Amino acid sequence: MKIAIPKERRPGETRVAVSPDVAKKLVGLGFDVIVEKGAGAGAAFTDDAFKEAGATIAKDEATALKDADVVLKVQRPIAEGDETNNELAMMKKGAVLIARLDALVNQKDVEAYANAGITAFAMELMPRITRAQSMDILSSQSNLAGYKAVLDAAAEFTSAMPMMMTAAGTIAPAKVFIMGVGVAGLQAIATAKRLGAVVTATDVRPATKEQVESLGGKFLEVDPEMEKDAQTEGGYAKEMPPEYFEKQKQVVAEHVKKQDIVITTALIPGRPAPVLLPEDLVKTMPAGSVVIDLAVEAGGNCPLSQPGKVVEKHGVKIVGHINVPGRLSSDASALFARNLLNFVTPHVDKEAKTLAFDWDDETVTGTLVARDGKVVHPMLTGEGK
Ligand code: NAI
Repeated sequence: MKIAIPKERRPGETRVAVSPDVAKKLVGLGFDVIVEKGAGAGAAFTDDAFKEAGATIAKDEATALKDADVVLKVQRPIAEGDETNNELAMMKKGAVLIARLDALVNQKDVEAYANAGITAFAMELMPRITRAQSMDILSSQSNLAGYKAVLDAAAEFTSAMPMMMTAAGTIAPAKVFIMGVGVAGLQAIATAKRLGAVVTATDVRPATKEQVESLGGKFLEVDPEMEKDAQTEGGYAKEMPPEYFEKQKQVVAEHVKKQDIVITTALIPGRPAPVLLPEDLVKTMPAGSVVIDLAVEAGGNCPLSQPGKVVEKHGVKIVGHINVPGRLSSDASALFARNLLNFVTPHVDKEAKTLAFDWDDETVTGTLVARDGKVVHPMLTGEGK
């Protein structure tokens, strides 16, 4: 069975779906691994490293994908354009595609996978069950994004992070406020603490209070009564009512006036990101302060952030880097690759050296979006929410 790993084509994507380490494991499981020439270049994985791992290097993407039974990608394949560009058209009928497909917001593409006879798994839909933690690409990438957000903030900030007592005088520690304490937010708290900042954080999910405090941060509460019902069974935040946002705005308004750095990470699956830091609040922030909007690609938690840009408004730098995990491309690729390996390994038939999916497994039903010419995921067919 052939597994192909193409070079990512979408602009700004530096990651690759498989590291040499994982390629070696896939070879060990009995697969033929084909890597497109230069696929790992953005993540500092050389073709030689893939060759040493036992993979074959294909001269271009069409060659890599032509006979592939399984295609592993970071981002969804390009499904339009001519034969040099249309990645979906390069895949054979019946092939298995495993990637971050952003299926809930790209439903036309999912229909195209079904029409092309592709069996497609959207890894971002991995259920949040304990067993699937090692397969969760959102967690592995968000963790790195949370870390990098703090470093990006430190790089834009014109003062130091820790308190410094010097002969020339004392420098006050930076005040860092994290809005949204999921995986990225928690890592941002830990990183900012390590750099010596004074850290506060807030979230709609009440469970996060204890997590923030255990990392040495202070929790900013908005409305504990309304927050009782803020979490879905799957562990994600629900969209909050307008009254909550009013209250949140008041509490946050008092707080952000005194902050040097605000890092926003709030997301609602399948919906635009909630606005947490409107322009009138940004206006009140001290000159030289920095906002990092990790939700910029989902519409942004700060309406002033622009994807891929650092803008300065009201004396505040607002950073909207896209693909933040891709700014740590080696680690991000290595962890992403591990997630994919952990997902497929239980379904490997070692004797036949093939993938034989258990179609009833929760990690399979949770992520499968197209099979046998049909769109199959309940969130896409209208049977689920
Ligand atoms: P996310 O990336 O969807 O959202 C980031 C954070 O923003 C969340 O904590 C969310 O509650 C918060 N948020 C949303 N709307 C907000 C608002 N209006 N104001 C303030 N904050 C708001 O979340 P992420 O990082 O994916 O984690 C969600 C939860 O899932 C966490 O508890 C995490 O530990 C859990 N998890 C469980 C896994 C498993 O068991 N397999 C794997 C990964 C995460």
